[in-house]
Amino acid sequence: MNALPATFGTTDNFAEAQAVLVRSASMHELDLPESLLAVARAGAGVNNIPLDKCAEKGIVVFNTPGANANGVKELVIAGMLLAARDIRGGMKWVADNKEDANIGKTMEKAKNAFAGTEIKGKKLGIIGLGAIGVLVANAAVGLGMEVIGCDPYLSVTNALHLSTKVELVKSNAEVFAQCDYITVHVPLLEDTKGMINRASLSMMKDGVVILNFARDLLVNDDDMQEALESGKVKKYVTDFPNAKTANMDGVIAFPHLGASTEESEDNCAIMAAKQLVDYIENGNIINSVNYPACDMGVCNKPGRIAVNHKNVPNMISQLTGAFASENINISDMLNKSRGDFSYSMFDIDSPSTQAVADKLMAIDGVIKVRIIK
Ligand code: MLT
Repeated sequence: MNALPATFGTTDNFAEAQAVLVRSASMHELDLPESLLAVARAGAGVNNIPLDKCAEKGIVVFNTPGANANGVKELVIAGMLLAARDIRGGMKWVADNKEDANIGKTMEKAKNAFAGTEIKGKKLGIIGLGAIGVLVANAAVGLGMEVIGCDPYLSVTNALHLSTKVELVKSNAEVFAQCDYITVHVPLLEDTKGMINRASLSMMKDGVVILNFARDLLVNDDDMQEALESGKVKKYVTDFPNAKTANMDGVIAFPHLGASTEESEDNCAIMAAKQLVDYIENGNIINSVNYPACDMGVCNKPGRIAVNHKNVPNMISQLTGAFASENINISDMLNKSRGDFSYSMFDIDSPSTQAVADKLMAIDGVIKVRIIK
């Protein structure tokens, strides 16, 4: 599979790269080369990338929301089933007794030890109804579960994809209080870190199952251990084990396998590569996590210039003034902001010149100027 146009070369030498495609490798300690224009994470989480450092240098960071959602959804469902019945214990029993010539009979006595419950009719709470949360919600409805979800940032697109059988609630507290299974699908941010902790666990039903296919630090490990030991939590299913949780009784852990399917890996790589190509070739930003979305399609004017800059007053007039001072007419423009950073695109009626690019670059607060055409 190659999602790159023939004009794009590839390199393993980070120091000379203009664009980087990364999965789980940490980029926090790397020196970011001057040549670097963009980074695309083949996945949703971006905690392996220094977003602010990149933004300060005008490096746009992309992710691929939704591209691996089905792979993760399927493993979440598997996680619920593994928590509901002792499938692993039963499999181990068969492996341990495989030499028994009478296994077909002895298992009928042994199987009682591995009996469990069904998930049909149980209540599942979903915290975070992004691409993955919505797919999990709909699949659980299909399996006969009662589903409630909470997401103060629910997008119109995700809302439209959500089964009408999913009840939306206003607070996580409602999810904590009502559910037999709780699954978290939120990014790891300062205000989500440790959201499953002693206080939230104390609101939950006894014997609740917690599923974490998002990031390990969303859960406070010590509080989880206490809750597992007391029986408050029946099982903690996680795709992000660490040295503590991997050693806890009651934990069902996978080695970050949610998106490790052929389909998810291909979808993420293709989406990430397409976004990088569109940014390099056209200057368009789609699905960035540190710069605003800004899309002017393919340029059909003689010139296009893209500017990464600080989100500060008087910037637009200075940028447009630079074009005016070079007697260049702007035929179309787009300016968008996200937090401290902004991005402006200018389609112009004559081919771009280095002189106007230099004038733009000289403006205080401008981080990067790129001649696209
Ligand atoms: C994600 O954030 O989407 C996953 O961590 C992707 C992966 O498994 O690399």
